[in-house]
Amino acid sequence: MRPLHVASLQVRAFRNLAAVDLEPGERFNVVSGDNGQGKTNLLEALYVAATSKSFRTSKLGELVGFGADLASVRVTLSDDGEARVQSVGLKPGARLVRIDDKRPPSLAAYAVRTPIVVFHPGEMSLSMGSSGERRRLLDRTSLYIAPQSMADLDAYTRAMKERQRALETRGPSASDLLEWETLVVRHGLAVMGHRGRAAELVAAKAIEAFSRIAAPELVLEAAYAPSAPNDEGAFLDALASRRSADMRRGSAGVGPHRDELALAIDGHAVRGVASQGQHRAVTLALKSAEIEVVGQARGVRPILLLDDVSSELDRARTAALFSFLREQRGQVFLTTTRPELIDTGDDGGARRDFVVRDGRITG
Ligand SMILES: Nc1ncnc2c1ncn2[C@@H]1O[C@H](COP(=O)(O)OP(=O)(O)O)[C@@H](O)[C@H]1O
Ligand SMILES: [Mg+2]
Repeated sequence: MRPLHVASLQVRAFRNLAAVDLEPGERFNVVSGDNGQGKTNLLEALYVAATSKSFRTSKLGELVGFGADLASVRVTLSDDGEARVQSVGLKPGARLVRIDDKRPPSLAAYAVRTPIVVFHPGEMSLSMGSSGERRRLLDRTSLYIAPQSMADLDAYTRAMKERQRALETRGPSASDLLEWETLVVRHGLAVMGHRGRAAELVAAKAIEAFSRIAAPELVLEAAYAPSAPNDEGAFLDALASRRSADMRRGSAGVGPHRDELALAIDGHAVRGVASQGQHRAVTLALKSAEIEVVGQARGVRPILLLDDVSSELDRARTAALFSFLREQRGQVFLTTTRPELIDTGDDGGARRDFVVRDGRITG
């Protein structure tokens, strides 16, 4: 796999980071500081630079520093030895992305250039939380496997919204419903195709990773569970027959917005029955799978952002994570309040330490 790393990072007026200029190392970058100083903000800035999106909000305005009009993030990447500059300018409701100062053909084209995977404390909900968390996992990996999937998902979501609006404003016999439903089915089947492929790859890697992390007698099962018939006619019929019910409940009872990546341990659904330790192991297995699938899809080692993960994982799981990270050999940014507890291995030259205080970074 090609090596990829952030060679420099410039951040302006992004959350509490007024001005950051950083030259990270190619391997482990350990960012420490007390709570509330800007550690997560720094990871978020990197994530925005790589994908144009945040991992903690969909509201761009939240990212702009208080009192500023515009936030910006700019990274210079070394990708297989070639330099590239990616930048994102942000203000409420708008973003401007550039690769080498040129406009990419689409946001998806921007977002796949620098594969990045984030692992933050909220991630435990991958195993414990609602199906939405696992759909997003499938969609994040789908993006790197097939960049078109982003447009398909947007088109599906829009068509579904229009169908619902037609239902709720004009009732189940509105004349344009069939038109919207036809679009829902067309884009919905495309979304299901992307998710099915992503799920197959993620499941295989997650099952393998789980057997390494958890007790050897436990077996993880993971499989895509679509929520619509994988057939144009049957999907259309399902929508048509649910019009009145969907109007009353305020959303469609069928369609990939209800998909699931079904997880089970020894035949029992993970969500209801797993112990805390098993949830941790499942989460870690899914994240490891995401890293591997994204990497293989793009032929590159993804950049990894680990936000305070040792606070979520126990000792054994943290050790398993770090041995995985050492094998991966990609660039890692990790935050912690206790840098002395982070064991990045014997190779001291592979680690750089930074300290964040009140939005300023020294290192
Ligand atoms: N848009 C913003 N402008 C300025 N400061 C912000 C903005 N959004 C969040 N903050 C501040 O960022 C700080 C939290 O930073 P964070 O990176 O989450 O801390 P931690 O080091 O604990 O990860 C808080 O002090 C919060 O007030
Ligand atoms: Mg934080």
